[in-house]
Amino acid sequence: MGCRIAGCGKALPQLAVTNDDLAQLVDTSDEWIVERTGIHRRHIAIGETATDLAAAACTDALARADLAPADIDLLICMTISPDSVVPSQASLIRARIGLDNAIAFDLNAACTGCIYGMEVASTMIEASMLSQGVASPLAHRRNPLRRALVVGAERLSRITDWSDRATCVLFGDGAGAVVLEWSEEAPGILASFLKNTDDDTLCLTCDQSFDMSTFPFAEGAACESVGAVMGIQAVDKEGNPAGIAPHLPFIRMQGQRVFKFATAAIVEAAREVCERAGVSLDEVSCIVPHQANDRIIRYAAKKLGVPYERWQVSIGEVGNTSASSVLMALSDAYAAGRIQAGDKVMLVGFGGGLTSGALLFVA
Ligand code: UT7
Repeated sequence: MGCRIAGCGKALPQLAVTNDDLAQLVDTSDEWIVERTGIHRRHIAIGETATDLAAAACTDALARADLAPADIDLLICMTISPDSVVPSQASLIRARIGLDNAIAFDLNAACTGCIYGMEVASTMIEASMLSQGVASPLAHRRNPLRRALVVGAERLSRITDWSDRATCVLFGDGAGAVVLEWSEEAPGILASFLKNTDDDTLCLTCDQSFDMSTFPFAEGAACESVGAVMGIQAVDKEGNPAGIAPHLPFIRMQGQRVFKFATAAIVEAAREVCERAGVSLDEVSCIVPHQANDRIIRYAAKKLGVPYERWQVSIGEVGNTSASSVLMALSDAYAAGRIQAGDKVMLVGFGGGLTSGALLFVA
């Protein structure tokens, strides 16, 4: 028994922006972007909201699972770029697609969001289902949860500094969704591995700085930036102060520092989740990693000794879509017929927080 993946879906905004389009905006080139990242284009939401994209991805996943909105008991939305904070992004999606029986909330684990979201949803379902039996001493103590929609929804274009070539060429918008369903027969999710590492050089931030000078009773108070809150300063690749401009709610990244973290984290998470499941890497038919950089995927493939052909690589067409990335890539892997019933599949992610993790399931 366990939580199985019953369906998967994705949605992209209409507008595709090429590397050449970006070269009109900042000092960059198609050659640099392709060579350093593997990205050819990304989609940018102009007419679409995060709610539009998430609703489309959820509807797609429900159709593939052959389920109706009323069948869903739980909705978790992972995002760092919601349409609103209150109501939560999940509440907006719930209302939009009529998930009348679902509880709904947001979760922020940045680019590892999908792994965290699926872990939270599946453990909530497991705890609920195991307590439903009449004989259980825990009977009726919890909401009855049998099926969940877990959706990553990002409109990163809203938190991208379009004058910063180091970040604006990397990110894209989109949504990816999965339906998790309790099954008495299927093994479903075999194991998970989640980890947080303090970002003690602030190498990946999206600051919500608050200018205290505009706050009542706070004369002379300083701006509350993430650095001020933590009592640390962002540094560049040489270790010199990086000087993040306050009051700008944009993604800032020290690429090389994050790259170093990412390559170690992806390898660690992949190994740990296999060990927990008692499964060897050779038995995993498809690995679906966070789509941050093709070079990170190639590094991990080499280090782990898993041929590159067994990794789902979607980054070329969509860029880095943070919490949506792994579920969008999973959807691509299913659509391409790369995952068959009974296959062992790994999802693996890393990102802001710093967070990292992996999840292994039987399709
Ligand atoms: O999703 C969250 C997790 N994110 C990641 O895992 C991302 C990890 N980091 C990376 O993928 C890579 O570090 C990047 C793709 C972000 C950058 O690639 P890099 O090979 O590490 O380049 P770099 O930052 O060391 O920059 C090399 C040079 C610099 O010029 P100088 O200082 O050598 O003269 C940059 O200013 O490339 C320059 N540069 C650019 N040139 C043209 C930076 N961005 C661009 C650009 N076009 N867009």
